[in-house]
Amino acid sequence: MKNKKLVIFNAVIFSIIVAVFSCKKESNIETLEIEQNTLTPYNLVAPSYFPQISIPADNLLTVEGIALGRKLYYDTILSNTGLSCSSCHTQAASFTNPIINSMAHVNLGWSNKFLWNGSVEGRLEDAMLFEVEDFFNTDINKLNSNMEYRSLFKKIFKTDAVTTQQIAYALAQFIRTQISSNSKFDRYLRYETMLSSSEINGFVIYNSEKGDCFHCHSLGLFNDNQFHNIGLDSIFVGVNKGRYNVTQDPDDLGKFKTPTLRNVELTAPYMHDGRFASLEDVVEHYNSGVNLTATLDPILTKPNHQFGLQLTVQEKQDLIAFLKTLTDTAFVNNPELSEP
Ligand code: HEC
Ligand code: HEC
Repeated sequence: MKNKKLVIFNAVIFSIIVAVFSCKKESNIETLEIEQNTLTPYNLVAPSYFPQISIPADNLLTVEGIALGRKLYYDTILSNTGLSCSSCHTQAASFTNPIINSMAHVNLGWSNKFLWNGSVEGRLEDAMLFEVEDFFNTDINKLNSNMEYRSLFKKIFKTDAVTTQQIAYALAQFIRTQISSNSKFDRYLRYETMLSSSEINGFVIYNSEKGDCFHCHSLGLFNDNQFHNIGLDSIFVGVNKGRYNVTQDPDDLGKFKTPTLRNVELTAPYMHDGRFASLEDVVEHYNSGVNLTATLDPILTKPNHQFGLQLTVQEKQDLIAFLKTLTDTAFVNNPELSEP
């Protein structure tokens, strides 16, 4: 009898505690929803010579959303191995990593094909969802048991529980702000600085039939969001099959996503497998190392290219001098992109 009373008493106390806590929780929800209305729209600034960016209507940029994405980008909480995105995408190297040979996070807001072989296509949000769910296999419970994250997510996405989709959306917001557009070449385009005669010569080679670089590494973003075989291999094995591994189409053998050349001075080693240690090696490839295969890009089989670009020593140096004008020190030192 006494015991039963105790049980009932305990039950009553318990439900009071629950009631108090859920009240508290509810009042929390209210305050957070009021704050939701105060999210600050963020205006993305990009040069006029960039293509129009499309930002999904369901993930408009806000100062708070970008800040959350940035926090996540630098936080090991997303992975189960003590890594953060920034472990392999470090700002000083234009968000690549020299050892891992990862891909740069530069102007990805304009991209709709991701990874060297383009195995992820769609919006930046889709790429981020892949990173979180498939690559990191993020343990969502870790975020849901972290009160700071829960309230940050609630403020932005209005739900009680954090989802991998919300993580992807926040990361996508931050990555859209990783804009590099302040290199020496950009300043030259804005009449703010001059290029040396060597850099100008390099630009002419780059941007004419002589070097033909601009067809794929087009001015502005310095990529074309397409896949090409640039003649690195004569036979294709494993990862070197490139886009073929995604489409199984023999026409795609040896094709890879054109990487941006912005900050290329900082992103060695080069190519999907990091086979070239220096820009000299890369230029020498285009100059004399192109392998003729069925899927080789037609640009590299034009008559004047059949035996390589045939650049002089000076011309190769000029081309490299031009590539180095794409280094954007303001970007790699931008405090708004660094670890918060
Ligand atoms: C262990 C190292 C590592 C970590 C950690 C890492 N990445 Fe990467 N990332 C890579 C490598 C390597 C590639 C190129 C892989 C490929 O294409 O095969 C890459 C490619 C990418 C790309 C494709 C870029 C393009 O131009 O197509 C995106 C986007 C990306 N990573 C985002 C992220 C995000 C977001 C995180 C954190 C959630 C992250 N990465 C964490 C190594 C890493
Ligand atoms: C037909 C299109 C095409 C042309 C023309 C072209 N590229 Fe490329 N470039 C690519 C592709 C695709 C890759 C990546 C290939 C890979 O990793 O397998 C690449 C890679 C590079 C890289 C390595 C970048 C990195 O981050 O790893 C550099 C540097 C480069 N190209 C410079 C040039 C220069 C300089 C020229 C002109 C002489 C040129 N490219 C002409 C498509 C092209």
